[in-house]
Amino acid sequence: MTGELPVDQILRGECVETMKTLPDGSVDCIFADPPYNLQLRGELRRPDETVVDGVDDAWDKFDDYSAYDKFTREWLSEAHRILDKDGTIWVIGSYHNVFRLGAILQDLGFWILNDIIWRKSNPMPNFRGRRFTNAHETMIWAAKSPQSRYRFNYQAMKALNDDLQMRSDWYLPLCTGNERLKNEHGLKLHPTQKPESLLHRVLVASTNVEDVVLDPFCGSGTTPAVAKRLGRHYVGIERHPDYVKAARERVAREERLTSEHVAVTPAKRDIPRIPFGSFVETGVLPAGTALYDRQKRLKATVTPDGTLVSGNQRGSIHKLGAMLTNAPSCNGWTFWFFERDGEMVPIDILRQESVALRNVG
Ligand SMILES: C[S@@+](CC[C@H](N)C(=O)[O-])C[C@H]1O[C@@H](n2cnc3c(N)ncnc32)[C@H](O)[C@@H]1O
Repeated sequence: MTGELPVDQILRGECVETMKTLPDGSVDCIFADPPYNLQLRGELRRPDETVVDGVDDAWDKFDDYSAYDKFTREWLSEAHRILDKDGTIWVIGSYHNVFRLGAILQDLGFWILNDIIWRKSNPMPNFRGRRFTNAHETMIWAAKSPQSRYRFNYQAMKALNDDLQMRSDWYLPLCTGNERLKNEHGLKLHPTQKPESLLHRVLVASTNVEDVVLDPFCGSGTTPAVAKRLGRHYVGIERHPDYVKAARERVAREERLTSEHVAVTPAKRDIPRIPFGSFVETGVLPAGTALYDRQKRLKATVTPDGTLVSGNQRGSIHKLGAMLTNAPSCNGWTFWFFERDGEMVPIDILRQESVALRNVG
């Protein structure tokens, strides 16, 4: 899928013009943090009229809403063309622009999947005290079309959330401390550098190892840096030369993890239908191995034909699990555990590892 695409590069240029040079359907995912159109609105000033954050940069100013909408339509049209038919886009915004972004996304044929609230654990206070503290940003996640067979790593998200379904409200801190890039005067290099944790979750949720992620407003290079770390490819676009330089240096410092480390919990549809017996036949889980339920109250033994026995009861991993718990059905893959290196692990891990190995190979 790399063809003429300048993969693993940060391109300096105007986003619409630069996007026009990228081939149709050539990227798997887009993360865009476009100008917010804040226009130095009152709530961004302290009582002494100084600006609370560096958002008075020229890149954030538009004459009026129609100029902002025109620009948004242009870059989102290009994004739609460049995105693979099964790809997804993430667009982050605040109340100043997110409703405009949402309407234009829908007008262009994108299919909204979720709006994620990024709830900031350490938001900036409201200095004037005339409104609520604005403590979140919204990310719209959309597929290229309603027909897209888009990627969502449901199991990986669940695993990341202590085995509970990941919800649409994400509680993450702002980018602070060592993560925040500084200029030669020790000041923030970029006014709106996004936290790496946010990009980590976005990319683990919606991309695979080796996928290509485009960020058309890449600023300080957060998306390319996290993409590289997670074994994804990236294309960044940024017009400000200082940010381009900083982003390139940042990405160069980043280590790319090996595919073995970055493979995530596979989606259910990616788990091959491997019969339990094949792990017995191949000696991965030999006959005679003891299996237990999670609490280690029940015990069964693996037999050579892949059935389990417990006392005088015998059945498949599913059937015996159901019989022993008096349940109508049971998913034996997640019910039965075995001991490995002193730890209890579900037998499902064997299927997941076989997918990870296939992906690496
Ligand atoms: C909200 S910031 C993105 C910050 C980035 N997510 C990060 O973590 O550093 C938007 C960026 O888009 C760039 N930008 C704005 N308009 C642009 C345009 N028309 N073409 C290219 N870059 C643009 C700005 O210079 C700015 O760095």
